[in-house]
Formats: sequence, structure tokens, C-alpha cells
Amino acid sequence: MIQTRITQLLGIEHPVLLGGMASVTAPELAVAVSEAGGMGAVGGSYIDAARMRDVAAGIRDMTERPFAINFLLFVDNRDAFAAALEEAPAVMAFAWPADGQDLAPWFDQAHEAGSKVMFMADSVAGAVRGADAGADIIVAQGTEGGGHVAWMAASVLVPMIVDAVAPVPVLAAGGIADGRGLASALALGADGALLGTRFLATVESPLHPNFKQAILDSDGHDTVLTEVPDVAGGRVWPGAMARALRNRFIDRWAGREWALRQNQASAAAALKAAQQAGDVDEGSLLLGQDAGLINDLPAAGDLIARMVAEAEEIMTARLPGLVRER
Ligand SMILES: Cc1cc2nc3c(=O)[nH]c(=O)nc-3n(C[C@H](O)[C@H](O)[C@H](O)COP(=O)(O)O)c2cc1C
Repeated sequence: MIQTRITQLLGIEHPVLLGGMASVTAPELAVAVSEAGGMGAVGGSYIDAARMRDVAAGIRDMTERPFAINFLLFVDNRDAFAAALEEAPAVMAFAWPADGQDLAPWFDQAHEAGSKVMFMADSVAGAVRGADAGADIIVAQGTEGGGHVAWMAASVLVPMIVDAVAPVPVLAAGGIADGRGLASALALGADGALLGTRFLATVESPLHPNFKQAILDSDGHDTVLTEVPDVAGGRVWPGAMARALRNRFIDRWAGREWALRQNQASAAAALKAAQQAGDVDEGSLLLGQDAGLINDLPAAGDLIARMVAEAEEIMTARLPGLVRER
């Protein structure tokens, strides 16, 4: 067992959390992660209040374990947030505020509902902003990660944020796919790891099988930071790029985002059709560089057990074996 301040604070067995992924929200995956002793999450930003209640009730039907609901703050989906507050999940996870957006009202309401507050940051200033507003946990997200990320590598950003927000516990995110990544996150001072891409390549992940296969096929060198999927989707993110698979769809529009804006409606329709058809060349697949470490499609629970066992072996055998008396 690896016990940290995060496992204690959240009452979970393993310091391994699923990132809330608004675009691929799946109660089954969240439940599998929570049931395995980690903490699952679903996204609430792009659904209405009724669906939010259904999703939370569905999770509660399947598990009594704690889970998180994730909100992209700039989306400002207050209806779904109000519904989530009624459900009082163990954790309300927030990310990506707009410039100048006041975090305290969101955090205070989550606390009043009885939830812990988690806030994801891609910079030291962002992490301090979250801690000052009362976050219980800060997620330090490195640029290696899948989905919307910024510029700093997790190996640098995690210890910087650990120092800047102490004693608030920190989770490392970005590029973590196995026990080596978990052990390194702990060595950097984090109290656990939050994973996206690795959980997308699991049995319970809702991704189309072709996109799961694309993660296995990726060597991690074929990701690119791009605004193309957001421009096509008509969504403007505050200062974020998305790390995505470089494919025909991205190559067609990269550097020509103005043209994509001109053709936004038809591009959005084509993208949606490609997503549904599992067309890896014409769809959009957000994934991290850690795709290069992902070579199988395990059940999420087996994955967590394997990661934790590998991290334990590193921490109890490999690393201590390197230390000699002077
Ligand atoms: C497809 C996808 C969608 C994501 N959507 C969200 C989101 O809605 N909210 C959020 O806080 N993070 C989101 N993330 C980021 C994850 O929470 C996490 O920080 C990231 O996946 C970590 O890097 P990794 O993919 O290398 O594990 C998303 C990631 C992916 C891959």
C-alpha cells in the first residue's frame, strides 16, 4: 500500500486519480477507477442539469466509493454545477478559469456542499491562485499530458508547485502511465498522480475502439499542441492548446485556423461524423506523450493494481538498493 496525504484526505486506497474528461465522460470508467481504490471522475461542463443528476445517480447505483465531478470554470455551466452541488460528490475538481474569474464563489459553494476542492494548474501562479482561493488539493499539470495543457514540463512544474503551495497537497498530472511515473511523481513531492490518456486505453473507456488502437499505435512522438480541434468545435479556451494526435484533420488546418473559422460549421459536422465513425485520420484524438508507454488495453482496476505494485517495487527494492553506506 502507498499511503499519502491524498489517500488520507479522500479516504481512498491508492493515490491514483482519473482526470475528469468532459469530452469523454463515462460513469462506467469512473466507477471502475473508484472501485479499484483510486478515484474516478466525470465531467460536468458540457451537460445539462438533468443529465448531471442522471450521471451522478448512475455512479451512486454502481459504487459507494468516492468520486469527483470536474468543471471547466470558463465554460461557466452554473446549472450543471448547481445540480452537482446537490449530489455533493467527494471532490469538486476545477480547471481552466477565465482571466480574472473569481474562484472563491465556486470553491466556497463546493465546500458548503461538503465536497473537497481540487484545482488544476499549469503554472506556479495558477497554483497559488487556486490555493489562495481555498483549494484542498492542487493538480500540477505538465505539458506532456493529453487534452488542454500549457507549456511547462511536469518534472519541473510539480516540485515548483509543491514548494509554492505547501502545505496544500499536490497531484502530478501529465505523462504518467505506469508505476515508474507514479513513483517519480511521489519523488517530486506530489502526493499522488492524476491520469487521463492511460485510462482512455482501458476496457471501460468510452472511446471508439479505433481511437483506443490509435493510442496503442502511438509512439508518443506523434502528438502536437494545436488549437485546431477547438476552433473546429467553436470553443475558445483561455490560453490553452490541446495535445492531440497529429493526423490528416490537424494537418489540413494547422496554420490556417482563419480558414477553419470560415468553414467552422461544415468542419464541425465533418469532425462529429468522423468521431462517431471512429475515423482516426479525420477525427480528433486528444492524448498525451505517454501514449508512447501504452501498449495494452487492461481493465482500469487491473491497471491501477499493476501501477501501484510497480511503484511499490521501485520504492522498496530498486531505489533503496542503490543507496550505499559512505
Ligand atoms: C481527452 C481528454 C479530455 C480532457 N478533458 C479534461 C477536462 O474536461 N477537464 C480537466 O480538468 N482535464 C481534462 N483533461 C486533462 C486531464 O485531466 C489530465 O490533466 C491529463 O490527461 C493528464 O495527462 P495524461 O493524459 O498524460 O495522463 C483531459 C484529457 C484528455 C486526454
